[in-house]
Amino acid sequence: MKHFLEENNFTKEEIESVFQQAFKFKRERDQRPSNDLLGQTWGMLFYKNSTRTRVSFEVGVREMGGHPLMLDLSNTQIGRGESIEDTAKVLSRFLDGLIIRTHGHEIIKEFAHHAKIPVVNALTDFLHPCQIYADCMTILEKTGSSENPFSGLQGKKLVFFGDTSCNMANSWILAGALWGMEIWLCGPKEFKPHEEIKNFCDTAGLSSNWNFTTDCIGASKDADILYTDVWVSMGCESEENDRKAKMSPYQVKAQFFEHAKDDALFMHCMPAHPGEEVSDEVLKSPKSILFDQAENRLHIQKAILKELSENKNT
Ligand code: CP
Repeated sequence: MKHFLEENNFTKEEIESVFQQAFKFKRERDQRPSNDLLGQTWGMLFYKNSTRTRVSFEVGVREMGGHPLMLDLSNTQIGRGESIEDTAKVLSRFLDGLIIRTHGHEIIKEFAHHAKIPVVNALTDFLHPCQIYADCMTILEKTGSSENPFSGLQGKKLVFFGDTSCNMANSWILAGALWGMEIWLCGPKEFKPHEEIKNFCDTAGLSSNWNFTTDCIGASKDADILYTDVWVSMGCESEENDRKAKMSPYQVKAQFFEHAKDDALFMHCMPAHPGEEVSDEVLKSPKSILFDQAENRLHIQKAILKELSENKNT
């Protein structure tokens, strides 16, 4: 059974096909709905809040002729302690696929282990692969290089500012290793990437090309993309004051762009907090492409679901 839990779960050919299909879905959106998920029901089990991921998946499944079924802890027995194993086995008898947003990565892995249907990672504390695929589609689109991440992203320098131990930073490390990008992580030493992502890349046989620094100006030099995410991820609310104090020097400012490439772009997976992780000036500048990133969640996720649906038995 093919699942999409991590960016590298697809083969090279499958990744190329997913990106090509996503661009096609975007070009041909006025022809929706398609029949790609006709008659299918995809469960959406969300342990955490979401705007973009939830709506883009729900709309995407509908645009492909399928039916999305929203589930959460308050309206299922999981919230009352039913095991992941039993839940995965039962849901597999009803659904054609399961999209999960949860806390620990081990939770989604356990679902996938017991499920007889494709499982999609809609964010865990470790990785956010759907966001990364959408972001990479957006980079390819904006730089006009190619529709293929293997050729179009090769050598691009992306600097991630702020909490460099978070799931988005991990996912960029993995994406950089997959597609030959140069990834710089810039933030407080206390929030350096954990060993877990390095070990993950090593186990997957991916040589990760990333650097950690506390020097925002140095990191920005000749960058193609300056990227950030919220400083207080879901589940870290009790650390809010400490995080904000430590991360304030890493707010993405216009000054950073003076050192980046002339055509450098600003990216953010959203939700954004102007005046915290990014200045209002950068957020509202023409360099900022966050709404394109958000829109591309829809197109790339449709392509991911199509790929999984067509490869159920591999
Ligand atoms: N970027 C992202 O995953 O947004 P949501 O939390 O709103 O889904």
